[in-house]
Amino acid sequence: MPAKSLIRSLQWGLSSALSALILAACGGGDSDTPGAPPAPPAATLPVVFRAAEAPPKLSQWNAVRSDGSKLSHHTAVVPYDLSSALFSDYALKMRGLYVPAGKKINYTTTGTLDFPVGTAIYKTFYFPRAQGTDPANYLPVGKASISPQGSTIDLTTHRLIETRILVLEASGQWTGTTYVWDADQKDASLNTSGKYVEMELVAPVGAPEKFTYVVPNAQTCQKCHATESGGSGPTLPIGPKVRNLNKDYEYAKGVVQNQLVHLDELQLLASFPGLSGAPVNVDWADTAKSLGDRAKAYLDVNCAHCHNGKGNASQSGLRLTHEDIGSSATNLWGVCKKPLAYAGTGLPGYTYDINPGSPESSILLYRMAHTEAGQTMPVVGRQTVHKEATSMVSDWIRQLSSAPSALTACSE
Ligand code: HEC
Ligand code: HEC
Repeated sequence: MPAKSLIRSLQWGLSSALSALILAACGGGDSDTPGAPPAPPAATLPVVFRAAEAPPKLSQWNAVRSDGSKLSHHTAVVPYDLSSALFSDYALKMRGLYVPAGKKINYTTTGTLDFPVGTAIYKTFYFPRAQGTDPANYLPVGKASISPQGSTIDLTTHRLIETRILVLEASGQWTGTTYVWDADQKDASLNTSGKYVEMELVAPVGAPEKFTYVVPNAQTCQKCHATESGGSGPTLPIGPKVRNLNKDYEYAKGVVQNQLVHLDELQLLASFPGLSGAPVNVDWADTAKSLGDRAKAYLDVNCAHCHNGKGNASQSGLRLTHEDIGSSATNLWGVCKKPLAYAGTGLPGYTYDINPGSPESSILLYRMAHTEAGQTMPVVGRQTVHKEATSMVSDWIRQLSSAPSALTACSE
């Protein structure tokens, strides 16, 4: 069972063995690709491509650029983060969105914001580099959900892995692509077939944990992003919902503003009624918030894109959306629910997805705490266990049997 983590802090480093693999596959990483159109001058706006016409190099989008020592977003790209985010093997993420000049995003609290055609959303995955043994270099546990602020990444202390992009095409369809960063970190190369990157989580105590970071191939994006069509239909954005964006962001040192207000002041948001009454998600790592709200926020952003009435996991009947979790239809979000598709762990005592008061017999927790194929949840996107979140969900299941939920343990 997921023992509460004794590890106080974590640090990550790339194993050099596979950096070599990246190098080999990407041919060294020159930013000038023969035959590619010349890069636009720095002053021009980002260029948005249809996925089918995605250029070989990320720099050609003129949105996310690197000189090898610093990554920067174009000034027309608005950085953002989410109140609670997807766990991807402890990767840090820098997100940004670009709305074409003169266009606006329609404010809506139903689903994601309503973006105009030509919108591009960028998400860069990266890790801190191992920095000797000084604890000051380690990321404290509990800040495992840490969201970098600003629009730049210092590459002397961080290692870039991939930058994913979603674009809203003129057809009304969203399409996605990813670029894997070259070994020299100056540019990234289009990747549609996926890639394995050997990594190592380094903690000040305990043995380093090796794992394989998986860059998803084009089909894998859909498993999560086809949120309304069983994981195989149209790609849709997931994160930019009002309740995830309704939080402060530090745009530059000391320049802090609510993200919705910021978009509105940039004249990018239409029909924004103001913050009062706008829904808000909690940060799942914020221990000042109730366990119920923290679990709901975490499961919503990590599971609900598949676990909703129409997603990849709809046939399981388990719904882990913000609306479902904690509702009176307790069986829908797993309470005393027997799995339909899951053949079981073969371990005695695991009968229900959630058994109130008993994390040690709840399948939902078991699947979060394991990484073997057939057990791991989510089914893609994770090779390591998110120890801090697993521990929080364990606490939540334990206290479901006391007030205010006071659900009774499952019989049988
Ligand atoms: C394991 C599920 C999963 C897979 C696989 C996945 N994504 Fe995502 N993606 C998410 C979730 C959840 C979010 C929103 C939460 C966040 O950003 O932390 C997201 C966010 C994004 C964003 C920011 C805009 C948004 O939708 O919130 C982009 C861009 C993106 N993904 C592109 C891709 C591309 C391209 C691929 C395939 C190469 C891919 N993703 C594969 C789950 C996934
Ligand atoms: C990429 C899509 C996807 C994501 C994301 C995902 N799941 Fe699943 N999940 C599935 C599918 C498909 C099934 C049905 C097959 C199976 O049980 O393996 C399932 C089944 C389950 C079951 C068994 C449910 C039942 O009653 O049959 C549990 C428990 C579960 N998932 C928990 C989670 C949790 C917790 C998360 C988030 C941390 C999560 N899943 C995220 C696709 C997903």
